[in-house]
Amino acid sequence: MAFWFNSDRERGRIFAEAFARDLPDLPFVMDTAECDPDDIRYLLTWTAPPDLDRLKNLEIVFSIGAGVDQFRVETLPPRVKLVRMVEDGIVRMMQEYVALAVLALHRNLKAYMGQQSEGRWQALPVRQAAQRRIGVLGLGVLGQALIDRLMPFGFPISGWSRSRREINGVTCYHGTESLTAFLGETDILVCLLPLTEETRGILDAGLFSALPIGAALVHVGRGAQLDHEALIHALDMHQLSGAVIDVTEPEPLPPEHPFWRHPRIMLTPHIASVTQPDTAARAVIENVKRHRAGLDPIGLVDRGRGY
Ligand code: NDP
Ligand code: OXD
Repeated sequence: MAFWFNSDRERGRIFAEAFARDLPDLPFVMDTAECDPDDIRYLLTWTAPPDLDRLKNLEIVFSIGAGVDQFRVETLPPRVKLVRMVEDGIVRMMQEYVALAVLALHRNLKAYMGQQSEGRWQALPVRQAAQRRIGVLGLGVLGQALIDRLMPFGFPISGWSRSRREINGVTCYHGTESLTAFLGETDILVCLLPLTEETRGILDAGLFSALPIGAALVHVGRGAQLDHEALIHALDMHQLSGAVIDVTEPEPLPPEHPFWRHPRIMLTPHIASVTQPDTAARAVIENVKRHRAGLDPIGLVDRGRGY
């Protein structure tokens, strides 16, 4: 039996130490030349390697990230389980980023930065948090964690998911038929949906027009969920007042893309959250132990749903 770590070697060294300490009977390799491919039971990677078929005894593919859309799950052999990354480091960083983005929009940070560059000293109208409704698309591990962080500011919070959820203090909506009602009560929309056939292109002109005039967007899901032209149009028509965008399609954006210089867009290069090797190693080791004990790993992807 062996565990193949197919990612960068710096992170790999941290994983290797944790595996040697906590799973000493499982050989940990960073190169398949170090073992017989038939011994590989577990693979941790960002994308499926082209020669995956030769790993005849592979049981689990662990994604190094929380998202799994970069795998075409239907091309993995049916016996292989796909597991997304659920680990404390990703959660903490996403909480920080979304709190930063929501507060920046709530307190007009981009406008003040523009005023600073023009040497202008002028207070802008500000709403109280209780008058700024936050709506979260996706009530999974990350969506729920950021709600915990935002709640103490006093924002009214609602959320939207596929199946029914109950979260203390949060107005929960679920299913396509409730999306318009959810959007109608959202002043800052945070997208934390996984990319699937249902969510591809979901942030489009129709969705923006269902938001109250002057609403804003924080997009940290996946680039292919956002219609770029529709966002620019909604901002230029003042349907939306601002956007914080961390994910785009393609990444990086070409130099002439309007997002780079738009006065009401804050753009970051897909850094909202990054897997942290020490906490991720702990989570993966725990999952290998669960699998060996006959339990489902935490973060097991449902092939039918695609997340
Ligand atoms: P989870 O699988 O825990 O949660 C996904 C949530 O989305 C669930 O609440 C699910 O509903 C909901 N959802 C999925 N499809 C639909 C749909 N068609 N309609 C309504 N709701 C839907 O994922 P995580 O919270 O761990 O991660 C979410 C995404 O965040 C990742 O897939 C990735 O794309 C992105 N991400 C971005 C990062 C960045 O740096 N920008 C970093 C890490 C992640 P239900 O509860 O009913 O299942
Ligand atoms: C992830 C990401 O999915 O970084 O973890 O986007």
